[in-house]
Amino acid sequence: MKVFVSGLAGFLGSHIAERYRDLGCQVVGIDNLYGGSRHNVPDGVRLEILDCLDRDSYKDILAGSDIVYHCAAAAYDGFSVFSPAYVYRNTVQATVEIASASIAADTGRFVFCSSMARYGALPAPFTESQVPRPSTPYGVAKYTCELLVSNLYEIHGGDYSIAIPHNIIGPRQRYDDPYRNVASIMINRMLQGLQPIIYGDGSHVRCFSFVDDVIYCLEKMGTSPLAIGEAINIGPDEGAVTILGLANEIASILDFDLDPIFVPERPREVSTATCRADKARRLLGYRTETTLRDGLANMVEWIERIGPRAFSYDLEIEIPRAITPATWTDKLI
Ligand SMILES: NC(=O)c1ccc[n+]([C@@H]2O[C@H](COP(=O)([O-])OP(=O)(O)OC[C@H]3O[C@@H](n4cnc5c(N)ncnc54)[C@H](O)[C@@H]3O)[C@@H](O)[C@H]2O)c1
Repeated sequence: MKVFVSGLAGFLGSHIAERYRDLGCQVVGIDNLYGGSRHNVPDGVRLEILDCLDRDSYKDILAGSDIVYHCAAAAYDGFSVFSPAYVYRNTVQATVEIASASIAADTGRFVFCSSMARYGALPAPFTESQVPRPSTPYGVAKYTCELLVSNLYEIHGGDYSIAIPHNIIGPRQRYDDPYRNVASIMINRMLQGLQPIIYGDGSHVRCFSFVDDVIYCLEKMGTSPLAIGEAINIGPDEGAVTILGLANEIASILDFDLDPIFVPERPREVSTATCRADKARRLLGYRTETTLRDGLANMVEWIERIGPRAFSYDLEIEIPRAITPATWTDKLI
């Protein structure tokens, strides 16, 4: 079986690739390295440094794929409020290019990685039957991608499924990016002896999945007939935690004397983002195997091994305003 992964050098893409490589499949993929790293790509997997936007460049690599996982994205929720054009290009435009190329090449199932951001500030826990009402450009973009994928596949035929993951944690997640991945940022700072920065009062509620639990579902979304044409929440509906609780958990793993720095809330931050996982349990046999603490400990171990890093402010803020977090404009993280 041949599996194609866009965003192969990223966090999720590299884990999907590893899973299918271990199953004995031929795994190929592309990445423009905007957010990922060559070091993430598992041995035995072919990476081409190409951009999803450049459709002609990867037509041949895509051809003959039995499953296409589209993970490539500028996965920035809060930051998309200030750099929507960058996020739009690398979500919506990237998705329509990959979907178009996949349909033209008559590949097998197309699995799109959406995001819980599609739900915005709807009442939690989110269920798939709620009509999405995203509250950030990133959420709008992800939901637009879902509509594009389902529309194109319904018109032209072929199988697709849509995964809607929560916040995911685990090794290979970028931890020097100041614009996303709250748990990684906190670990990276605490390992440098710095207090975590918390937007608001720390009462925002989130759920985190360890990457292996997500990959278990994503693999089934590529192969199970039950997942065809379905949009499925992927994340636990137990173990919700506040952002302050998350900081406490990491501090306790690191034996760190916690005294967080509280800064103003970011615009469009959703207060509670939790979901129901009934559909994933029913269709994919979803279960939580790794607790939040064990998942965080695993990620701490990985970041410690590679070493903490300075944060890299390599993205342009397209709309600098008074409400743009000073953590970004003044590079405070
Ligand atoms: N990690 C999470 O917590 C999470 C949660 C929900 C949804 N998702 C979704 O899952 C997918 C993977 O996320 P991730 O955490 O692995 O992010 P990531 O940044 O680690 O991986 C995305 C990869 O896509 C690449 N990329 C971006 N734009 C590209 C383009 N135009 N052409 C080619 N490559 C491009 C980046 O270089 C990066 O390696 C994304 O679509 C994201 O929206 C992630």
